[in-house]
Amino acid sequence: MKFFIDTANLDQIKEAQDLGVLEGVTTNPSLMAKEGITGEANILKHYVDICNIVDGDVSAEVISTDFEGMVKEGEVLAALHSQIVVKLPMIKDGVKACKYFSSKGIRTNITLVFSVGQALLAAKAGATYVSPFIGRLDDISTDGLNLIAEIRQVYDNYAFDTEILAASVRHTMHVIDCAKLGADVMTGPLSSIEGLLKHPLTDIGLSKFLADYNKGN
Ligand code: E4P
Repeated sequence: MKFFIDTANLDQIKEAQDLGVLEGVTTNPSLMAKEGITGEANILKHYVDICNIVDGDVSAEVISTDFEGMVKEGEVLAALHSQIVVKLPMIKDGVKACKYFSSKGIRTNITLVFSVGQALLAAKAGATYVSPFIGRLDDISTDGLNLIAEIRQVYDNYAFDTEILAASVRHTMHVIDCAKLGADVMTGPLSSIEGLLKHPLTDIGLSKFLADYNKGN
């Protein structure tokens, strides 16, 4: 399972990249706004800055909701950097734009996916990635992880190439459960990745090793 970080914060992206396990970045308009990145020129520059930090795919989301607008925006985004993946919403025109981009060899990420049916459509339209939002399903008392399992089954039945990018990952157990279920990628906050490091027996064991070494020196 590939590890993506879900942020537009350059310091956190650098930190994850320095750890040596980062394989991509996802952003969305809310994450950009959270970092105070506003205005088209600043947003485009920020995508390039992110691409220059990470070795891997960087999802850049369109804000148009009509086919023509998505195509125009997506072409500008894709031309920014070879690592850019055009992120499109799971609406009718988003599916049409996905098909258009896949026929041109431009990579896509279909976002805001909350059902198996939507994931099936994304795959049929040739999406590179499909992003089921597990945390937001959990937020409304629906089992987000079950959606990952169902999409995995459907995609495996027909050997679709579309990669399941488990999104809206909120914590470390989501990361582990997504890996168990066979998600191709997960995107979450830096804390969800760093949580994987933690075990009290590791800390206790290391302290003991160092204490014993120091006894003899
Ligand atoms: C995915 O690409 C989205 O940016 C993201 O995972 C949404 O997560 P949230 O539900 O925590 O906002």
